[in-house]
Amino acid sequence: MVNVKVTERSKAIEYAIRDVIVNAGQITKTGKKMFYLNIGDPVAFDFPTPQHIRQALIEAVQSGNNNYSPSEGVLELRQAIVEKEKRVNGVHVFADNVLITSGVSEGIRMLISSLIEKGDQILVPGPPYSPYMSYSKVYDGTPVSYETVEEENWQPNIDDLRSKISETTRAIVINNPNNPTGALYRTKTVKQMLDVAGEHDLLVLSDEIYDQIRYVEDYVSTAHLAKDLPVVGLNGFSKVYLMTGWRLGYMYFYDPNGELQELKKAVEKEQRIRICASTPAQMAGIAALRGPQDHVKELVEKLRVRRDYAWKRLNEIEGVNCAKPEGAFYVFPKICDVGSKWKTDMEFAVELLKETGVLLVHGSGFDPVYGAGHVRAVFLPPIEILEQALNEIERFIKKK
Ligand SMILES: Cc1ncc(COP(=O)(O)O)c(C=O)c1O
Repeated sequence: MVNVKVTERSKAIEYAIRDVIVNAGQITKTGKKMFYLNIGDPVAFDFPTPQHIRQALIEAVQSGNNNYSPSEGVLELRQAIVEKEKRVNGVHVFADNVLITSGVSEGIRMLISSLIEKGDQILVPGPPYSPYMSYSKVYDGTPVSYETVEEENWQPNIDDLRSKISETTRAIVINNPNNPTGALYRTKTVKQMLDVAGEHDLLVLSDEIYDQIRYVEDYVSTAHLAKDLPVVGLNGFSKVYLMTGWRLGYMYFYDPNGELQELKKAVEKEQRIRICASTPAQMAGIAALRGPQDHVKELVEKLRVRRDYAWKRLNEIEGVNCAKPEGAFYVFPKICDVGSKWKTDMEFAVELLKETGVLLVHGSGFDPVYGAGHVRAVFLPPIEILEQALNEIERFIKKK
């Protein structure tokens, strides 16, 4: 027998969004019809990668772009990102301050590894996109979630944010538009968050992977508002450019006073040790940013119809309350009878799955405080599938 000891660190790794599939495994074997509303992957539904982006990948492979790229990424892509950030988000950065990653996920890991160590805290939205929590724990730090208020469409509570800053806080994470709540932070709110960061000399990390998927107007990129405050922006190609499986993302250092160069150097070391992001995918990324953008409007308009439908149907179910998502493609409804009919949101999600084949993510999997009593669903499927899934959810709740 070999003696295998698994680290404590590995036990901190949780990713509820995919961990729930473990439960689904047994059920699929029974042949039950499944509704996968757990993963935010538009490409798995009827949102294929645009043809010109696919063609660019094929051409990259055929023309021999199959070698390792520089660790920080292909220069032309970094330049295309500078143009995109200026055009779409009004953010001015230099190509030197843009680093390419294998998805935003990798960027999150690299940043947290470079920023957090034992005893450090990081402020994350409550509830956050899970890796911000998990990686902070993996790197021996403590994630602290600041309240976002359901009754205000999940806008951050600035007073709560301020009250949670301590000597050991290393950064504030903003995720706008937000996963898992579908919130779109108002310009005024982002300004207030930046003011709080400025008062305490805190770095802001701003995850804007859903930047172009919005259903209301009042949105501005954090770095556009930051003036002389430094911001690290995280963004990628998975959602807006429908390239989920290709694993391509980026981070930029908006660094008006040259305060982020040491952090950038630390991240660059992380980049070198993992060699590079996929070179053909990077070439396709250039085509995505510089080619036609028509698919973005189509994507948002199709999603808007599905959002309206899912939100309305959920609110019609007695015992469910759902804030209206204003960005991204998630709803985060409250299940009012968690605590009585179901002990926890996890129990609700597991029973729902077993009985109906509808796979949701339990809210406490994102955040035991601000996510509890909720579930997250994607509204990516076509209306006829959403309708079937929502009928199942309704029947399940009524029956109990
Ligand atoms: C807020 C947020 N950040 C990052 C990611 C990871 O995206 P990527 O596919 O670029 O790793 C996701 C994916 O769902 C997300 O919702």
